[in-house]
Amino acid sequence: MKGVIVSGTDTGIGKTVVAAGLTGALGATYWKPVQSGLEDETDSEAVARLVPGARILPEVYRLVTPCSPHEAARIDGVEIDVEKLRLPDVDGPVVVEGAGGAMVPYADDLLAADLFADLGMPAVVVARTMLGTISHTLMTLEVLRARGVPVAGVIFVGEAELVAESAIQRFGAVAHLGRLPHLDPLGASALRDAFAANIRLDALR
Ligand SMILES: Nc1ncnc2c1ncn2[C@@H]1O[C@H](COP(=O)(O)OP(=O)(O)OP(=O)(O)O)[C@@H](O)[C@H]1O
Ligand SMILES: [Mg+2]
Repeated sequence: MKGVIVSGTDTGIGKTVVAAGLTGALGATYWKPVQSGLEDETDSEAVARLVPGARILPEVYRLVTPCSPHEAARIDGVEIDVEKLRLPDVDGPVVVEGAGGAMVPYADDLLAADLFADLGMPAVVVARTMLGTISHTLMTLEVLRARGVPVAGVIFVGEAELVAESAIQRFGAVAHLGRLPHLDPLGASALRDAFAANIRLDALR
């Protein structure tokens, strides 16, 4: 396995936390190819904090403004070149985190899902359990599959919502890899223990 792409239904839903958990559990290398927004903690910095000692590849593009990569790049006067976003050659699996959701533009002719298809790796879809998640998650699955990105499963974040979770499994014909509860405090050991107790990794190995 080359690794796994961590995508999701939206921005700010827990992709980085899930990606950190996967990085630790799989002994993987973490890679956020395009980071937009440098003022707050970056996703790579968050993973370094949540998984002490994790191997983290540098971002290819570090864009200042916290918005869609295509617009953040325009503001910075940078052109995102998909040829530069090839999977780096590293030992062991790589956990690749996308920016925002699956239909976020990276360039004027490149959506996140197109990039994922180019990378040729399966995706894990991160979904909140809150109201609205059924439609958002099913749309995300359709979009990824329509572009030829295989989906390894869905990881939910939040309180249990069994009706929504089972509707997504059934209509989306997708594996439920587990649900990460809200962790307070969220730290390295709490994340490692919650991942071990709640997330199935068999589909990713
Ligand atoms: N299981 C959790 N327990 C506690 N806090 C969480 C959990 N999941 C996410 N958070 C918090 O919610 C916020 C958003 O999560 P995160 O940064 O992982 O989202 P994201 O989907 O990666 O966002 P982006 O699109 O910006 O990359 C962060 O402050 C994070 O610490
Ligand atoms: Mg993130």
